[in-house]
Amino acid sequence: AKSFRIAVTPGDGIGPEVVAEAVRCLELLKTKHNLPLEWTNLPWPSHAWHEQHGESMPADALEQLKAYDAILLGALGDPGPVSDPNRYLLPDSISLAPLLDMRKGFDQWVCERPARLLPGARQYLADERAKDIDMLVIRENSEGEYVGQGGRLRKGRPDEVATQMEVFTRRATDRIIRYGFEQARKRASERAEAGTSRQFKTLDGRTCESQVCVITKRNALRYWGDMYSEAFEEMAKDYPDVATHHELVDAACMKFVQAPWAFDVVVASNLQGDILTDLAAVLSGGMGVAPSCNLNPDDPDMPSMFEPTHGSAPDIAGEGLADPTAMLFTTARMLEWFGRQNDEVNAAGKALFDAVAADLAENSGSRRGTREIGDAICARLEKAG
Ligand code: IPM
Ligand code: MN
Repeated sequence: AKSFRIAVTPGDGIGPEVVAEAVRCLELLKTKHNLPLEWTNLPWPSHAWHEQHGESMPADALEQLKAYDAILLGALGDPGPVSDPNRYLLPDSISLAPLLDMRKGFDQWVCERPARLLPGARQYLADERAKDIDMLVIRENSEGEYVGQGGRLRKGRPDEVATQMEVFTRRATDRIIRYGFEQARKRASERAEAGTSRQFKTLDGRTCESQVCVITKRNALRYWGDMYSEAFEEMAKDYPDVATHHELVDAACMKFVQAPWAFDVVVASNLQGDILTDLAAVLSGGMGVAPSCNLNPDDPDMPSMFEPTHGSAPDIAGEGLADPTAMLFTTARMLEWFGRQNDEVNAAGKALFDAVAADLAENSGSRRGTREIGDAICARLEKAG
């Protein structure tokens, strides 16, 4: 049987601490269920690496990573010892570059960021209905505002001009919208199976069991906004069972706070999705619990990348305080991703999700360290069937 190879890249800050707990869970699951999983640790701390080699990862990092089925990434971003007067500071633009290089280089065009307020997670909204928050934000991850084209003219002068190009292609728009519809269907059938169906009204008064909301800023950014809307309307014809909805990104921010429980699947551009998913993360209990993944769904030779939404949190790094919950949910998602080809691995992914969710439910508001949370989850996995 195929063995799944994982490149473990702990990264910077709290990355190594939360990744250590993920690896413990993987070890336990692998041994317990005899799973075909293998991993290699690739510690490339960006500050130290850059100081020594002049770049934040090995020059052939992408080639090395390409040999794996998935990349399990802690977090990137380490400016260096800020308090040291002789400090050598590494700008974010350098330490975070590999993240964008991986997404682009491996064409990880889907970024999935589920936001579900699970029992035990911190509830920021006072409204009782917040318990029903369960959305999947799908961020277009290959182009848009992140193409990195543009420049600075007359740099540093009072008449300086900075340009930053946004590029949207119909091909990338169609594939992300189709992905959104497919996920909506999948969620509807999972809910039907679990007996937790939801209902969404269409504009013509029909009732559907799932919804896709597409986000644009078409009242100001017309060209891509109109293309997104047209692509969405055309695609919707293939999915009459899915309710469709459009929101302008500013209104979407408002509605995420006013009535987030009304959303199901949300499809957004790269930057708008980036911003909305920080908001969505808070709706689901904060950065400590928000998973994320960067997927290439159609090229089996390209690794997908699994990394929580949170960053490297240098302010609490090394203290054992970081919550590994988001990392562990993300690891569960990785196993379910492999699980498309292997039922046992899929079951292990579900078991890990369940253990993390149960731990969250039972320890609401408790002050526990990284290790302690990892211990509790491992103990739960050990006991589970
Ligand atoms: C994220 C992050 C990255 C992004 C940064 C670190 C470049 O905010 O993964 O959401 O903007 O995509
Ligand atoms: Mn972000």
